[in-house]
Amino acid sequence: MADHPIILSIANQKGGVGKTTTVVNLAAGLARQGYRVMVLDLDIQANATHILYRPLEEDEPSLAEVLLEDANLDETIFESNSPGVWICPSGETMVRVDLALAGVLGREEALKRALEDSETASTMDFIVIDTSPYLGLLTVNALVASDQVIVPVSCEYLPMLGLKLFLGTIRTIQRRLNSGLNILGYLLTMYDRRERITFDVERTMKNHFKELIFSRPIRINTHHKVSPSRRQTIFQYEPPSGRGVEDYTRLTREVLQRLELPESVESSETPNQTETQPDAPNEAAPKQQEESTVAADVTESPTSDTSTTPETSDTVETSGDSDASNTLETEQAAEASVPSEPAPSQSEPPSTPPVSSPSSPQASSPTNAESNNADSSPAKPDNNTT
Ligand SMILES: Nc1ncnc2c1ncn2[C@@H]1O[C@H](COP(=O)(O)OP(=O)(O)OP(=O)(O)O)[C@@H](O)[C@H]1O
Ligand SMILES: [Mg+2]
Repeated sequence: MADHPIILSIANQKGGVGKTTTVVNLAAGLARQGYRVMVLDLDIQANATHILYRPLEEDEPSLAEVLLEDANLDETIFESNSPGVWICPSGETMVRVDLALAGVLGREEALKRALEDSETASTMDFIVIDTSPYLGLLTVNALVASDQVIVPVSCEYLPMLGLKLFLGTIRTIQRRLNSGLNILGYLLTMYDRRERITFDVERTMKNHFKELIFSRPIRINTHHKVSPSRRQTIFQYEPPSGRGVEDYTRLTREVLQRLELPESVESSETPNQTETQPDAPNEAAPKQQEESTVAADVTESPTSDTSTTPETSDTVETSGDSDASNTLETEQAAEASVPSEPAPSQSEPPSTPPVSSPSSPQASSPTNAESNNADSSPAKPDNNTT
């Protein structure tokens, strides 16, 4: 696709808002559309690594070693469990990075440099970055390296206070470190129509951010809790008609629309998307109905899926001021949390060939997309508006 990958961070310093869930499933969604995708796990919790790959052994290099310049990014890229998605994992040593980077020149740009020096990264269409639930150097590195940021906002509490701090940080980074950083959108997550707070959050967000809110939320769905424990994306865990599949397919489409990219591209370079899924017998599929009757938060009401989304669409309108974040004046507070004085690059990371080249791992690549999602033409974004 592009000669330069689109680098997309999923970030919000509030914990548990659906960052990792969105990273994993948006990455898988983009790969299903034929895009080459790499996930960078910048979170010390390594949740994306656990879902898409596996916990690292103690001596295995991770993104942490890359940032501390002991390892080359190309040597820490692996095939994930999800077809067409590669991962640069996080490990236990990530916890040391914030402190170690603090004394390094160009500390805010360590990730940017590593990506620029990575041959493998340059072959990707998308690099999706998972971030930690705090505004430290790791998150700043993600935002400095990124072209776009998506901000998940959980509909479980009023988010404005935390968002003000976060947006102040983004604006500071835009002004001083990365003028190209763009907020692609705010994503409402854990959307539950039975809960009044959902509408309060939606209204508040709409008032502030208008069309920057993605037109469809990610509905509350216990499958998003279960699928990670099976190391599966929602596309692997749910049947093609699943609510999570529908939500993340729609998000994928809207992301592509906002970036003015084709809804799908030829996937000749992506590994075996038509193969069957080896590690996910989709035993979850038959289970789905039982689970959803037990888990009331999945089904919300006896009504069908289609009854839950239209109101979302209606109530999250797309009009008005796209620069709403300017109404949130917290730059000073944010300044304090952004490390100062961007400095020139410290050293040139070595450039060694990829150990696990994204163009060659097909043989072992577990692939499922088409078989597990016979709907290679996923749910249309707007056809469910009754
Ligand atoms: N739409 C959803 N419905 C129900 N549960 C969800 C949904 N999205 C995510 N979850 C669950 O909520 C929890 C938090 O989600 P997730 O890990 O994606 O958030 P996070 O922002 O990455 O958290 P952290 O800040 O700790 O990294 C997880 O258990 C996840 O499985
Ligand atoms: Mg997370």
